[in-house]
Amino acid sequence: MTDLNIQWYPGHMTKTRRMMEQDLKLVDAVCEIIDARIPISSRNPDVDELCKNKPRMVILNRIDMADPAMTKTWAAWFKAQGMAVIQTDCKSRKGISDFVPALRRLLAEKLRRYAEKGQTGRPLKVMIVGIPNVGKSTFINQVSGRKGAKAENRPGVTRGKQWVTMDQGILMLDTPGILWPKFDDPEVGARLAYTGAVKDDILDVETLAMKLMEMLWRRYPQAVTDRYKIQAEPDAAGFTLLEQAGRKRGFLLSGAEIDTERMARVLLEEYRSCKLGRFTLEQPEDLA
Ligand code: G4P
Repeated sequence: MTDLNIQWYPGHMTKTRRMMEQDLKLVDAVCEIIDARIPISSRNPDVDELCKNKPRMVILNRIDMADPAMTKTWAAWFKAQGMAVIQTDCKSRKGISDFVPALRRLLAEKLRRYAEKGQTGRPLKVMIVGIPNVGKSTFINQVSGRKGAKAENRPGVTRGKQWVTMDQGILMLDTPGILWPKFDDPEVGARLAYTGAVKDDILDVETLAMKLMEMLWRRYPQAVTDRYKIQAEPDAAGFTLLEQAGRKRGFLLSGAEIDTERMARVLLEEYRSCKLGRFTLEQPEDLA
């Protein structure tokens, strides 16, 4: 996993933005990969502004880990913003074959113009963007059949632009810069930590698990009750819920004290491995 907790240099971000502005001139469309569990927090805050004049596609990835009903809701939401949308699980390759047809639909106008000019073999050029760990390399490898080494993600490690050729008349530009999430928002940082996209030490593990428990209890109370046998008010505090779950699991310290830290680790592990269920932690209303 890429270590996202490395210092994050404003200079590096500016450089990436500039590179992206240049790269955008080379492509016909921008495809942004996001994590279907956190479709807000797994986006780079600058992409909308930078790419506003380009045809856009959103690839909702990790659908195997997200709430299927919410994935549908999000797909409709992005479509309503004028973007093409596909839904993928890069582990099982689900949805991968939708990419090329969706791209050709998105760029139908351009293809028609090429055909009129007799340029039928002219490739479509696309840029694939996404924050680290979102599944970008896996997606590119799946779509292109590329087996190549994963690109370096660390700042300071430069590599050139990579054009990846696909069979079906498509060239993909794999961007060298890191597109960061909106790290200055602590909520975004927490959500990236719940999913494991950043290391836990962004917050202490109990605080993180308390916040996650509270969120799950509000959005998916039945699943939490089923797994941890919790009985509590709908607005119960995260720590209370964590304590209850720890008690039920028998995580006790000396005396009758509950080992909430152990329970915190268990909750995070069980959430990340989908033992609790497939949950989406953000909904379009959260943007309001
Ligand atoms: P990046 O280039 O955007 O940084 O991400 P990368 O492709 O390296 O993917 C990060 C991790 O996410 C990889 O797991 C990858 O297998 C996993 N992944 C990508 N897409 C999906 C998906 O749709 N569903 C699921 N469940 N996982 C996905 P890893 O643990 O780093 O490696 P490995 O276990 O695959 O070897």
